[in-house]
Amino acid sequence: MTVVEVRTAHGVLRAEVDARESWRAAAERVAGRRVVPVDLSADPPLFATESPWQVALRPATPGDLPDLLRWRQHEHVRRWWAAEGEPTQELVRGQYAPVIAGETPDSLWIVETNGRSLGFLIDYLLRDHPDYAVLTPDPEAIGVDYAIGEPGWVGRGVGPQMLWAWMLTVGRRHPGVATGFAAPDHRNVASLRVLAKAGFRAGTWFDEPQPDGTVDTVVGCSIGFATVLG
Ligand SMILES: CC(C)(COP(=O)(O)OP(=O)(O)OC[C@H]1O[C@@H](n2cnc3c(N)ncnc32)[C@H](O)[C@@H]1OP(=O)(O)O)[C@@H](O)C(=O)NCCC(=O)NCCS
Repeated sequence: MTVVEVRTAHGVLRAEVDARESWRAAAERVAGRRVVPVDLSADPPLFATESPWQVALRPATPGDLPDLLRWRQHEHVRRWWAAEGEPTQELVRGQYAPVIAGETPDSLWIVETNGRSLGFLIDYLLRDHPDYAVLTPDPEAIGVDYAIGEPGWVGRGVGPQMLWAWMLTVGRRHPGVATGFAAPDHRNVASLRVLAKAGFRAGTWFDEPQPDGTVDTVVGCSIGFATVLG
């Protein structure tokens, strides 16, 4: 029997998850309103009804390229993309302008809190990247990469809500896709932790070849949308 907890303004509510419902549905049933994840790796998984921020995603536009460049250049982001080369204007434009223009099957999103842009998220069906998909446990999954680019917003709990907002868009855009997937570097503690807080489970480690010829050892993390979001 799975039990979820919901932190409200007045205390903590507990709900037993009905066999036919998701964790989110059970949490929203007992709370009577929308919930956001706080730590879904806790036992029981913990949601909240209150958040200081409205976290939303919007499609990136060419006007976001200067922010994307700035975010990629901040050291807390740069270190995890280092194998792709120095984040110059040419490199960042070359990577993101075609995605923004719809010339690739991938989607690029800007993360906003209360209307302010503070990071980005990119998603892709793994089957559109067969060399990568073959390394992963479920080639039919949807993959995601992300960064809170503004240093002042890192470590404040926006990450789980960013991933939650993203997962809610997946259900609408790709109703047949059952699993979400991300594979951070095994040393990226913050990224592994944010995935766990959003409901992903860490699985197999694997070696991912990088554009500069090096190999990163990454941790495959997956989430089954039906169980967690419904
Ligand atoms: C990974 C990332 C999106 C997480 O988002 P976030 O909003 O910072 O997430 P949270 O605030 O929930 O923090 C997640 C965990 O990060 C760790 N963390 C928090 N602040 C940190 C800091 N300043 N430095 C390092 N780790 C930190 C904590 O362990 C925290 O877990 P806890 O809440 O159990 O203590 C964000 O840190 C980021 O953008 N990092 C740089 C880019 C990156 O690594 N992207 C992922 C590539 S796979």
